[in-house]
Amino acid sequence: MRVLVTGGAGFIGSRLANQLHRSGHYVRVLDDLSSGDPSQLSQGINFNRGDVRDVPKLWSLLQRVDVVYHLAARVSVPASILYPREYNEVNVGGTVSLLEACRDVGGVQRVVFASSATVYGDQDVQPVNEGMTTHPAVPYAVSKLAAEQYLFNLGRLGGYETVAVRIFNTYGPGQPLPPAHAPVIPQFVQQILGGGSVVVNGDGSQTRDFVYIDDVVEALIRAGEEPGVDGQIINVGSGEETSIRDLVETISRIVRQDANVLYNREAAGGIARLVADVTKAGRLLHYRPRVQLEAGLRKLLERDAGLRRAASGVHAPSSTHNASGGLPPMGATSTGNS
Ligand SMILES: NC(=O)c1ccc[n+]([C@@H]2O[C@H](COP(=O)([O-])OP(=O)(O)OC[C@H]3O[C@@H](n4cnc5c(N)ncnc54)[C@H](O)[C@@H]3O)[C@@H](O)[C@H]2O)c1
Repeated sequence: MRVLVTGGAGFIGSRLANQLHRSGHYVRVLDDLSSGDPSQLSQGINFNRGDVRDVPKLWSLLQRVDVVYHLAARVSVPASILYPREYNEVNVGGTVSLLEACRDVGGVQRVVFASSATVYGDQDVQPVNEGMTTHPAVPYAVSKLAAEQYLFNLGRLGGYETVAVRIFNTYGPGQPLPPAHAPVIPQFVQQILGGGSVVVNGDGSQTRDFVYIDDVVEALIRAGEEPGVDGQIINVGSGEETSIRDLVETISRIVRQDANVLYNREAAGGIARLVADVTKAGRLLHYRPRVQLEAGLRKLLERDAGLRRAASGVHAPSSTHNASGGLPPMGATSTGNS
């Protein structure tokens, strides 16, 4: 199979591209490097720097491509509140450009879109399933929902298959840790390892679904390969509901370092609960989340070079120590996660 991965130099995209390449597929990547890092990509992957809104570039990269994995996006929830126009231009406009180019170039069989659990917003019932009415509460979530609509509409009109995978909070080795709006897991791990304070917005009772990167990559690959998924929305999470308070305790236990937790009760902790119903992913993609949170955190500590360096300065987690392994702000400064 010949695939194009947009956003393929990013956290999820680079793991996806590498895994597809390992499985013997020909892989092209398009990424503007606004946050990605092409050095994460395996030798043999065809990397192209460029913008997903650049239609002439898309025309050349889509030649003889069978499946497109569309991950290129701006991904910070807080930044989307500050810069909604940019989120609309890249996340919605970039998706429309890509879908139009797929139609015009021809030959593409399927487009898999990396959507987000943020589209659910506040829901009375948990776990959330794909049939529920969405309540996007932030511009990032609106942009993902609009892109889903264009995906299904333009796919149907253009004669190619489409799948939207609603990804929950993904974590794993190599996740970037930007100075502002960092994702909650690497940020908490680094702060606890460094002996600093962890600031939790709200009272820490808010819950999220943290899913390990390998599970997400496996589900995305299957979404590109399995029959009978055209026009479907599919949740990909762990199905495990974890409060922020429990997350901090679990990290502390694993790194064997007490966390100094400061609760900022004045700040909103985001929606109260969010956890995925992954029944549909099980049925359509034969997806079973394999990595539970505690095992995933251990893998993260073993495999993330940056966190290992932080750990070596303070307290290295023992390798014999049971080595199994977005929404509005909820964590220290933010979930940052999308
Ligand atoms: N990480 C999560 O928890 C999570 C959750 C739900 C959905 N998603 C979605 O999965 C996808 C990948 O997320 P990620 O966590 O790997 O984020 P990421 O920021 O690491 O990856 C996004 C990539 O897109 C690239 N990009 C941004 N704008 C671009 C443009 N105009 N043209 C070309 N490339 C562009 C960036 O350089 C980056 O490499 C995104 O679409 C995101 O919305 C992620």
